[in-house]
Amino acid sequence: MKNQISRRNFFFKTVGAGAGLCLIPSVSGTSFMQSGKGSAPLIITSHTNLTGQNAMEAGWEILKSGGTAVDAVERAANVIEVDPEDTSVGYGGLPNERGVVQLDASFMDGSTYSAGAVGCLENIKTPSSVARKVMEHTDHVLLVGTGALEFARAWGFPEENLLTEKARKIWLRWKEELSPKDDWGAPEHLQNLVKKEAYWRDFPQIENHYGTTNVLAIDASGNIAGCTTTSGLSFKLNGRLGDSPIIGAGLYVDNEVGAAGATGRGEDVIKSCASYYMVLRMKDGRTPQQACEDALHMIVDRYRKVNPEFFPSEKFVAINKSGELGCAIMKGGRNPEMSVRSTGGFRKYEGIVAFPGK
Ligand code: GLY
Repeated sequence: MKNQISRRNFFFKTVGAGAGLCLIPSVSGTSFMQSGKGSAPLIITSHTNLTGQNAMEAGWEILKSGGTAVDAVERAANVIEVDPEDTSVGYGGLPNERGVVQLDASFMDGSTYSAGAVGCLENIKTPSSVARKVMEHTDHVLLVGTGALEFARAWGFPEENLLTEKARKIWLRWKEELSPKDDWGAPEHLQNLVKKEAYWRDFPQIENHYGTTNVLAIDASGNIAGCTTTSGLSFKLNGRLGDSPIIGAGLYVDNEVGAAGATGRGEDVIKSCASYYMVLRMKDGRTPQQACEDALHMIVDRYRKVNPEFFPSEKFVAINKSGELGCAIMKGGRNPEMSVRSTGGFRKYEGIVAFPGK
């Protein structure tokens, strides 16, 4: 596989961390595993910004004192979900085509082989917590729409407007840009004065239509849990479910093997059952890093006959029960990263681009 062995050595990055500026080791490729330092407990997220780092510290507080992976994952996911600046997850997420924020989330507990999920959930800031309630308090796996909202209400989750001013402005800009013949239109657009790209300069978030986050953890008892949570594809059709609430697509956890999560174009992740596939690959002896890359190659292989130039945007993360790590992205100019917290501190793990140049 292309680029598989690029930058496999430990190196250090200087970043502002928790209590202040410190040196954070970044591990690349499979070095983490080969160094034998990937022991539990640990927690990871695909989110690599400061909120992702804060989420890892919040989850780690639970793990370091002997708490469960399920509790750590929920706490960490909530930190990301309530960040109003994040336009891809929870509160502040970009809305659907009607301007309504509809959230998807899934939860899985490897110790009990149980799972819960919610789809198209409106007005609740923390869908991962509702998904956990579905997992622990019902014999169902997936609740959607008004049913999911009624369930959340029953458990006392507060209802709030999830559409921030920032997200509303981005949505309105999108409506203005739909077509130069629409009745909606930015003044410059209606006068046909400015090229399309210029409209989006102020709204870089719009580039990231599929933002999502995965949180995976192993606790001191070796139990594994995971969560995937998202506001889904921005400006999606009303009622569209992505991969995030689909067990086996956006998330899968097996206590005997490991866990995997997906971000990116949900339609491809659903069709490929990507997270389940990654866990099966690890069960067959592949490392988490190899499993992530295998899943991306599998998707491209599926398209080879019908659309050989199609390389959809996905980023996959995985851990195995030994605490080894994996992260790979379909395409792009920069290696993907994920955030990791364990006894060694906080660090970024650097994965690989499966199809560089695409
Ligand atoms: N992966 C997020 C979505 O497609 O909704």
